[in-house]
Amino acid sequence: MSESITTNNPAPVGGMLKEDALKGKTIIITGGGTGLGKSMGTYFLKLGANLVITSRKLDVLKQTASEMESETGGKVLALACDVRKYDEVENMLKQAIAVFGRVDVLLNNAAGNFISPTERLSANAFSAIIDIVLKGSANCSLALGKYWISEKIPGNILNIVTTYAFTGSAYVVPSACAKGGVLAMTRSLAVEWGRHGIRTNAIAPGPFPTKGAWERLLPGDMAKKFDFKNRVPLKRVGEHQELANLAAFLVSDFSGYINGEVITIDGGEWLQGAGQFNGLEMIPAEMWDNIEKATRSA
Ligand code: HXC
Ligand code: NAP
Repeated sequence: MSESITTNNPAPVGGMLKEDALKGKTIIITGGGTGLGKSMGTYFLKLGANLVITSRKLDVLKQTASEMESETGGKVLALACDVRKYDEVENMLKQAIAVFGRVDVLLNNAAGNFISPTERLSANAFSAIIDIVLKGSANCSLALGKYWISEKIPGNILNIVTTYAFTGSAYVVPSACAKGGVLAMTRSLAVEWGRHGIRTNAIAPGPFPTKGAWERLLPGDMAKKFDFKNRVPLKRVGEHQELANLAAFLVSDFSGYINGEVITIDGGEWLQGAGQFNGLEMIPAEMWDNIEKATRSA
């Protein structure tokens, strides 16, 4: 079990599942060459999985695959695949099956995003995000679902969404629409494909620093001015291993009865934004005596 985590200065958290928890499973991670996909994939390998990492940039994937293999001793197949193109997805799946014999898990992790007032977006900019996130996740789910159903394999889909998939968010409207669509797809397929033994779940992460997200969502000195950890009740951002632990559980057989669920891992961030009086944390402790007198005399 991992070490305990203190609020402001978390101890490095370790792996949660027992060794070999994913042994024999082949897992495809879209967008697996960078950021959170890379961190989750590295942990899956440590747990005995075979890994297929895909994205548009083959050079990045190859570099990541070789780092992952030397760190874990596992086997990684790096395949270029633009999730917006169904023929490339089908071809990627064929190559994965040719190398590993079968595929058990799809982790829809690839995404595109940037902040912008919506009225400044071109129609093409809006579509660019929808195409990667919603259409890309649909393309991969469709290809894998057809394969699993025809081969009678009890597959498993895990979708990475965000908390604004259910709250919505200003300034990232195409991403919010797309992630909301992926969440609807998660719940829909969980029911429709459940009878084939295929489980479909989602994770809604709060802020987990990555180069890809931070450069597009908090460029320049915005990272200082709009420090995500101030929005989180636990006063810190997430650690990649914390997300990897949750993802590994959801793609493992230990979560075999969880289907159609979205699990939030955000330190309480979205709820802090939602509660009407949550901002009262700004009130210093010594003011509460006076406030109590005032409310009692009302
Ligand atoms: C306004 C922009 C823009 C910007 C691009 N566009 N960037 N418009 N502001 N900052 C416009 C372009 O002008 C073009 O429209 C259209 O969008 C498509 O741009 P391309 O560069 O041709 O698209 P493409 O090569 O497909 O690149 C997609 C991308 C890029 C999303 C724009 O950033 C990318 O490849 N991202 C992948 C990685 C990523 O985004 N990671 C972050 C995920 S973080 P016109 O009309 O000119 O043709 C995340 C976190 C969520 O999802 C929650 C965090 C807490
Ligand atoms: P990231 O490193 O930028 O990851 C995004 C990946 O998607 C990249 O590897 C990119 O690779 C790939 N990708 C983009 N367009 C693609 C396409 N058309 N086809 C195939 N792959 C494509 O960012 P991240 O922070 O790790 O994000 C990973 C996931 O977590 C995303 O779903 C994101 O929305 C979600 N998320 C992140 C946070 C956070 O705080 N970081 C919070 C909530 C949710 P190429 O450029 O090589 O294609």
